[in-house]
Amino acid sequence: MMERAYAPYSHFPVGVAGLVDDGRVVAGCNVENAAYGVALCAECGMVSELHATGGGRLTAVYCVGGDGLPLMACGRCRQLLWENGGPTCLVMTPEGVLPMSQVLPQAFGPDNLTLGGPRA
Ligand code: THU
Repeated sequence: MMERAYAPYSHFPVGVAGLVDDGRVVAGCNVENAAYGVALCAECGMVSELHATGGGRLTAVYCVGGDGLPLMACGRCRQLLWENGGPTCLVMTPEGVLPMSQVLPQAFGPDNLTLGGPRA
């Protein structure tokens, strides 16, 4: 997937693959834009494929940069992984495999909306 990245501005290709709880594999690459701020991270494409192909939960994610080595998701994408995989989703990092509970400690997530949101 990294080789399919569209990264003419940063020259920083990223590819990511995720294992879904039903055995599917979903993947994505970063897609940049002349308006730099609207670049799509590889994880965005992967999460879009997750939902477009039937949904489910991410159980494991492996993201790489142009060197093929594990790349940590940016802050925004850690939030995407949390939403779609939760605390037990395993992520390959430069320090080895870690659960999302360690990649995004004290995460804000769907439960917070239930606990802290307006009363019905
Ligand atoms: N990028 C990703 O695709 N995922 C990340 O988690 C970090 C950053 C992309 C965005 C941009 O196209 C390039 O890497 C440089 O920031």
